[in-house]
Amino acid sequence: MGGVWVMVLGASAAHAAGNDDAMVKLATTSGCMTCHHIEPGATGPNGLAPIGPAWKDVAAKYKGQKDAAKQLTATVLAGSNPYESHWKGKVSGLAMPPNKVAINEADAGKLVQWILALNDKK
Ligand code: HEC
Repeated sequence: MGGVWVMVLGASAAHAAGNDDAMVKLATTSGCMTCHHIEPGATGPNGLAPIGPAWKDVAAKYKGQKDAAKQLTATVLAGSNPYESHWKGKVSGLAMPPNKVAINEADAGKLVQWILALNDKK
């Protein structure tokens, strides 16, 4: 985890989207930003589709679903099912690996709440 990543994201992504610096930092130190962007439309390495869905797309997809936060927190911790991709064809990664080695449940819950509210913040 280099300090460089934190600085780069702090300077660009955080300001461009008016995002909460603390959440961006948590996402960065937890390794999420290796596979995710906040803004849709960004590409992954070599201009290919990004590995994971942009978090604003996630917010749009689950908007209005009552138990989304709970379900997504569980997915973040335990990983997603490669045989049942929710983002098949839209991202280059088939599944998300479990993140519970990198983040605890409380922090994962906080991040998910923040992700789901991203589109409300304009
Ligand atoms: C190694 C790459 C990778 C890392 C690291 C990663 N993700 Fe993901 N993430 C993915 C992929 C790939 C998907 C799409 C899964 C699918 O199609 O169901 C995804 C999907 C998601 C979703 C939507 C799940 C759904 O069911 O629609 C959320 C929310 C999410 N990630 C949050 C996070 C958070 C928070 C972290 C850090 C703690 C994180 N991700 C770390 C690759 C990653």
